Amino acid sequence: MLIQKYKDFLRLVIYQIYPRSFKDTNDDGIGDLPGIIEKLDYIKSLGANAIWLCPCYKSPNDDNGYDIADYRDIMDEFGTMDDMKRLIAEMHARDMKLIMDLVPNHTSTAHAWFQESRKGRDNPYSDFYYWFDEPPNDWESCFRGSAWAFDEMRGQYYLHSYAITQADLNWNNPAVVKVMQDVVDFWVDMGVDGFRVDVIDQISKDFEGGRNCFGPRLHEFIHALFGREKTAHLFTVGECWVDDIEEMRRHCAADRNELSTLFQFDHMECGRAEKFTPKKDSLRTVRDVLIRWQDKTAEHDLLHSLFSDNHDQPPLISRVADDGEKRYESATCLAAMFYLLKGVPFIYQGQEFGLTAAHYDSIDCFDDIESINIYAELCQSMSAVAALEKINFGSRDNARHPMAWNAGKGGGFSDAEPWISLHSRQSKINLENDMMSERSVFRFYQKLLKLRREQDAFLDGSFEVISGPEEECFIFTRTLGQEQWAVVCNFAQETVIELPFDGEVVLSNQGRIDVSGIYQEYECAVIRVH
Ligand code: GLC
Ligand code: CA
Repeated sequence: MLIQKYKDFLRLVIYQIYPRSFKDTNDDGIGDLPGIIEKLDYIKSLGANAIWLCPCYKSPNDDNGYDIADYRDIMDEFGTMDDMKRLIAEMHARDMKLIMDLVPNHTSTAHAWFQESRKGRDNPYSDFYYWFDEPPNDWESCFRGSAWAFDEMRGQYYLHSYAITQADLNWNNPAVVKVMQDVVDFWVDMGVDGFRVDVIDQISKDFEGGRNCFGPRLHEFIHALFGREKTAHLFTVGECWVDDIEEMRRHCAADRNELSTLFQFDHMECGRAEKFTPKKDSLRTVRDVLIRWQDKTAEHDLLHSLFSDNHDQPPLISRVADDGEKRYESATCLAAMFYLLKGVPFIYQGQEFGLTAAHYDSIDCFDDIESINIYAELCQSMSAVAALEKINFGSRDNARHPMAWNAGKGGGFSDAEPWISLHSRQSKINLENDMMSERSVFRFYQKLLKLRREQDAFLDGSFEVISGPEEECFIFTRTLGQEQWAVVCNFAQETVIELPFDGEVVLSNQGRIDVSGIYQEYECAVIRVH
């Protein structure tokens, strides 16, 4: 049985915003906070009641805001603290919750803490970061190259698990724990309702075990942030690449008072051999991962998170389904597969109108630091054309193009030249086109989220799989007391599916009436079981 707090969290439907690319209101080509305020009614009309806002703090923007220079101020390009206060007030007036992105593992080297720390060893901030005379190991940065950089001023090396301008904080220093608690409290006092916590597993390093994550004090630190009286009510989701249920339990079992839930990324590996290399997978592989985590989290009374896309991943639809002719069917089928399971749904901006991966002919169309570094590296061992194909496949920019509100020149995002190219399919795949279409992904999402809202079986109901592992479909039920619902998702072309019960089709992406019979490829149906 989930504890009451977690049951309440199941009512959240969280819309993820990448602020730089959402909506520009002052014609500088960069999305901003007033742009988000302008679109709150839109987000609400979709059926979301919360927003996860990617970092909007003061930052030199080397990693698009994940390099924070001041945790208590807003990035100039995004607006002011007053805009932020207005955003919170406007959201609360609409009964919406704001989940901020907290980046506790590293700061920008432009942060005052780092600027002080590099001055020398007899400074109050001297131990805020990891300083060594020589690199103590051969750790690599996630963005390529050594994770150790030499700082001329201090005459020592510091650790940066990401870009060279993102220095890892030394959490073993109690003063670091304290300042980060203060940051959390500052935002709680401002009225935010929760946090998505960036690379949480890295705040304690396992120097002995040779990895910059899952160190011995990890849980002590998470508890220090979120297990306090002031923070225990918050909704918190940690970004954490766990593949093991015990590991997840240690982070978010109710009695641990750490995080509410995690993003685990098993299903994100579907459709690729590694981040930049495709692999032929079908929705079956996604289904199997989803089933595994539904079962495991239920067994351990853990709150699960449900997502297929985010700002670090090319849309899943392009890897495991048909993002061409059957884009509508694929997008809606994926929505039914993910968001009618048990857990907290996260919808990434654009997903609600069937956003796909993009494709470009030049590396100049890319902005992401990871993509650019890896492209340079790949070019040493393959042709530029082959390297670009890989970047096109796996780049994080796939999810970072300006929101395509309409087919117009700036896509309805901005009247100015946007900071990054418009999506290569923007003139076709955009919200306005989608809404005008009879087969609207947006309207399907609306109906699906309404069902979730109105039928408690989709929240706390038990989950059971009906389809067999060899079958090219995913059929499951959600049951609460006398209420039972079934969800059918078909992956193969024209298949006859005979269901062992009768019922009424309440939602379908094909205008379906009979519960059993021929299902088309990527057809899905939500059925009230009689
Ligand atoms: C997380 C973020 C990603 C960022 C990295 C470093 O993985 O989602 O966008 O680059 O952490 O902060
Ligand atoms: Ca702007």
